Amino acid sequence: MTLTHLRHPATASAQGGPLRVAVLGHGSIGRPVADALKSGNVDGAALAAVVDSHGTQDAAGESITFAQATELADLFVEAAGQNVLAEFGPRVVAAGVDLLVLSIGALADERLHEQLFGGPGRLYLSTGAIGGLDLIRAVADGGTLDKICIETYKQPRTLVQDWMDDQQRAELLEVTGRTEVLRGTPQRIATAFPKSANVAMAVAMAAGDPAKVEAVVFADPECSLTSNEITVQSRTGSYLFQIRNLPSRDNPASSGVVPFAVLRAIQDLAGRRETLI
Ligand SMILES: NC(=O)c1ccc[n+]([C@@H]2O[C@H](COP(=O)([O-])OP(=O)(O)OC[C@H]3O[C@@H](n4cnc5c(N)ncnc54)[C@H](O)[C@@H]3O)[C@@H](O)[C@H]2O)c1
Repeated sequence: MTLTHLRHPATASAQGGPLRVAVLGHGSIGRPVADALKSGNVDGAALAAVVDSHGTQDAAGESITFAQATELADLFVEAAGQNVLAEFGPRVVAAGVDLLVLSIGALADERLHEQLFGGPGRLYLSTGAIGGLDLIRAVADGGTLDKICIETYKQPRTLVQDWMDDQQRAELLEVTGRTEVLRGTPQRIATAFPKSANVAMAVAMAAGDPAKVEAVVFADPECSLTSNEITVQSRTGSYLFQIRNLPSRDNPASSGVVPFAVLRAIQDLAGRRETLI
């Protein structure tokens, strides 16, 4: 007797073969994800295409059109930026291809969110650099979520924005201790501080109802790493998540853990036999 019948076949694609994954954006997240897929190290999934600002290639490196890339793929991973998501994302889901989004901050634009949600391709939001979204989604779906507060602590210089006048910039750069800069809805924070947009909107999406989420940005000259503290109050429990990611080596504005989160999601979507869900 053999146990070969227990071997897990990769059956996630429409054709029954490996899940075919196209990567949109070949930067600090997209490059390691594409490399892992191309090397065959991701069970049940294979690289289908890479779309970057330099053009679109299939897995063999041949130039193809974006439309051809959508025909080759079961899943697109967007790791390119909010504008690129707005330009290409609707075409991906309209072609019936699933879309895993990294630039979640773009969903502060309700029209874009509706377009991406409209299918027929499915919309997946990456957990990216944030933890605890599974528990937030559970209490939100269960109807017991009362309130979430997400506090983001950053070095003052990283919070300077184009919309600030000279006095606001000077005050921000001169703070000597932890100082609240802005408090509001996740959409307001995402619009005012685009670098905090993904975290604020990811929590809002997990909560389902953005009205239950308050986001606060603090300038903190003492913090060596950006810190996100997510406090959840629900009728089934209270939770506190603190996330302090080390920056990516390739892009100091991103976190090194994010490609791992994307590859974890791809393996789950590809039909991993045992997973946490
Ligand atoms: N959800 C999360 O937790 C999380 C965490 C980190 C980053 N992100 C988001 O992921 C996105 C990518 O981050 P990154 O660190 O890899 O950025 P990056 O700057 O390292 O890479 C972006 C890539 O997109 C490509 N690109 C730019 N314009 C393009 C276009 N018109 N068509 C195709 N490709 C284009 C660039 O050439 C580059 O290769 C950003 O929007 C970032 O905010 C999300």
